[in-house]
Amino acid sequence: MRFTVAIDGPAASGKGTIGRAVAAHFGFAHLDTGLLYRAVGAKAGPEGDPVAAARDLVPEDLHRDDLRSAGAGQAASRVAAIPEVRAALVAFQRSFARREGGAVLDGRDIGTVICPDAEVKLYVIASDGVRARRRWLELSAKGDPITEDEVLADLKARDRRDAEREAAPMRPAKDAVVLDTTEMTIEVAVARALAEVEAKLA
Ligand code: CDP
Ligand code: CDP
Repeated sequence: MRFTVAIDGPAASGKGTIGRAVAAHFGFAHLDTGLLYRAVGAKAGPEGDPVAAARDLVPEDLHRDDLRSAGAGQAASRVAAIPEVRAALVAFQRSFARREGGAVLDGRDIGTVICPDAEVKLYVIASDGVRARRRWLELSAKGDPITEDEVLADLKARDRRDAEREAAPMRPAKDAVVLDTTEMTIEVAVARALAEVEAKLA
């Protein structure tokens, strides 16, 4: 069975949390595509060649330390604006999406560019303040000394760069279901996503 769930949306809106839960529920594979861009940014470093880093990306690169930090997010968003970097990552994401047994991919361009024919497309949003609070709680729990204001500034800067770039800008696909999780618990948001998938599987 081939079945693709595409989940897009701005930073810290809950894409990964929902994606993991949907994948676990249906026994689908899950790919956090943001991690690919974070790994490319970290592998290239400030002086390196991001296109070469994307072409040479290996699975171990996804296990580097600190890929979840705000700095790694900013580096990811800068390399993600380079068309050749995006092109180097397309084939892997598409084959993952069409693997036997079902797949969930979360990112920015899954429903628009990577999998325009995905069976289910979700676009997850939440207010800036709620997203900043959630990401700050997550980072502080890991011992990161970043402040909530710094997290908010990071999310806004990335959202803007991601939405305004030419290459695969962040935007909802025409046929995406928009899920505003501002006032939703994780449980409610996941239940809504599961219902969308169940409706398409039936
Ligand atoms: O993948 P994305 O960056 O969109 O967000 P995430 O990492 O799934 O979620 C960011 C944080 O918000 C995590 O710590 C989630 O547990 C939390 N979250 C939440 O509190 N309520 C939701 N409805 C969704 C996520
Ligand atoms: O978890 P969060 O939403 O904060 O970020 P992420 O999903 O790990 O993505 C990090 C950065 O990678 C984003 O700000 C985008 O610039 C880029 N990205 C992208 O361009 N396309 C994707 N499909 C996924 C991520």
